[in-house]
Amino acid sequence: MNFPLFPHQASSIATKVDTLFIALVLLSLVLLAIIFGPMFYFLFKYRRGNKADRRPLNFATWKIEVTWTLVPLFLVLGIYSWAATVYFDLERPPANALEINVIGKQWMWKLQHAEGNREINELHVPLGKVVKLTMASQDVIHSFFIPAFRIKQDVVPGRYVTEWFRPTRLGTYHLFCAEYCGTSHSGMTGSIIVMRPDEYQQWLANGRPQENLAQTGERLFRELGCSGCHMGSGQVRAPRLEGVFGKPVPLQGGQWAFADEKYIRDSILLPQSQIAAGYEPVMPTYQGHISEEELLQLIAYVKSLANKQPLEETK
Ligand code: CUA
Repeated sequence: MNFPLFPHQASSIATKVDTLFIALVLLSLVLLAIIFGPMFYFLFKYRRGNKADRRPLNFATWKIEVTWTLVPLFLVLGIYSWAATVYFDLERPPANALEINVIGKQWMWKLQHAEGNREINELHVPLGKVVKLTMASQDVIHSFFIPAFRIKQDVVPGRYVTEWFRPTRLGTYHLFCAEYCGTSHSGMTGSIIVMRPDEYQQWLANGRPQENLAQTGERLFRELGCSGCHMGSGQVRAPRLEGVFGKPVPLQGGQWAFADEKYIRDSILLPQSQIAAGYEPVMPTYQGHISEEELLQLIAYVKSLANKQPLEETK
């Protein structure tokens, strides 16, 4: 149910978040009554001049002490497990999500769909479909906040954060930046437009660029010269990228890394920090030469190679 004064509940998680919130407020009110009720009663009963019986009571205080230790303990454990369930639900996107990249920068939200469509301060999504956001910041900390979806996630420079939602209500909803990020922080707002799935497909088709995200990544891969070592038969031997994404990678020194978005990102920006076993540390850093947007495009390309077999390496 939608509680009075609350924004619309427009995502699958909204009711769970609201119920938890209301339960916490009610519990706090009950505790408030339990503490302040007796306090005012005793203040009144033992006021100066009143002929109340002031002799100490004669009973075992350990019983009350055990009670007021155990009852809050189980209350807090209960709240913890409830909140943790909602939290894990929020943190783990279901499979087969629609993937959308989000870049926060002073002072706008740049978004890109897997089909290549770009948007600024506006995001079109289909009703009832799971949408997974991979988010990065180009400068300072921002926070991606959609009140109607009950999601708010800090977007931190130097790393990827993810967030997901499933819209359950058609309409246009507010998008805010919820972390003070400089002069025009208050203007860093936008809209989330929830459309019927067929309308969304229509919208995608109308604005579809020539390249999808992975294709843009592939073009960059050649333009930046990555392909010379990672794909070609040049003099430098570099790891092939087919079938890498989503798998463990052996590193020099016997350690292992897992090839996720963060690993690919670090391999481009900080290549010397994680040399794959059996390779020379010759790759230069691309820090300062590549934008957050381009990084995500390259990652989309590497992802698209995840199910491909590597060709025979040239020695
Ligand atoms: Cu971005 Cu505040």
